[in-house]
Amino acid sequence: MTQIRAMTEQDVPAVSRLLGESWRRTYSPILGAETTTRLSDDKHAPERLAAELADDNKMSFVAERTDGSIAGYAMAKMDATGDVMLDRLHIDKREFGTGLAADMLHAVLAAHAGIPSIALEVIEGNDRAIAFYRKHGFEVVERKAASHGAEGHSSFIMRRILPRA
Ligand SMILES: CC(C)(COP(=O)(O)OP(=O)(O)OC[C@H]1O[C@@H](n2cnc3c(N)ncnc32)[C@H](O)[C@@H]1OP(=O)(O)O)[C@@H](O)C(=O)NCCC(=O)NCCS
Repeated sequence: MTQIRAMTEQDVPAVSRLLGESWRRTYSPILGAETTTRLSDDKHAPERLAAELADDNKMSFVAERTDGSIAGYAMAKMDATGDVMLDRLHIDKREFGTGLAADMLHAVLAAHAGIPSIALEVIEGNDRAIAFYRKHGFEVVERKAASHGAEGHSSFIMRRILPRA
């Protein structure tokens, strides 16, 4: 059994590790090992992640296994206009294809009930993630220069419209 819940400060070291591993696996083939390591070490430093927990515009979730280990992590942020972006969704490689990522996406959506749509940015070449998001109703609405310091790369903005129940 895996429980999805709000992330707390106790989860910071495990989430930092999960993000570091996931970034290296996913982005090294696209951005190169050196850029990936530099960006990840900076963005996913424990103190950065802890600061995000105190940010009212960000909501962070983890999936915790019964043995206490962290199987997944998601973070959504709301901008000044109320638009919600799924900023990060990373699951442990052992959980790929298990449905955990979909469960985490649903946890994020449930926590933002009533929003008209949700968007995300995904780097071009991250084909597994793009396939996952398409499967869950996201469509590419824009192609742009990648943000997050990944100069020279393109990314897609994908958005899922959420019908009112
Ligand atoms: C993105 C992520 C959360 C999706 O979770 P997942 O459990 O792998 O997703 P699923 O297995 O349900 O769906 C992936 C789909 O891509 C397909 N796929 C796998 N590799 C692929 C590839 N190279 N190209 C295209 N499609 C691919 C799978 O077959 C699957 O589709 P299917 O269910 O129709 O067979 C997970 O892969 C992950 O954590 N990746 C690393 C972090 C990341 O990239 N996060 C997103 C960017 S922030």
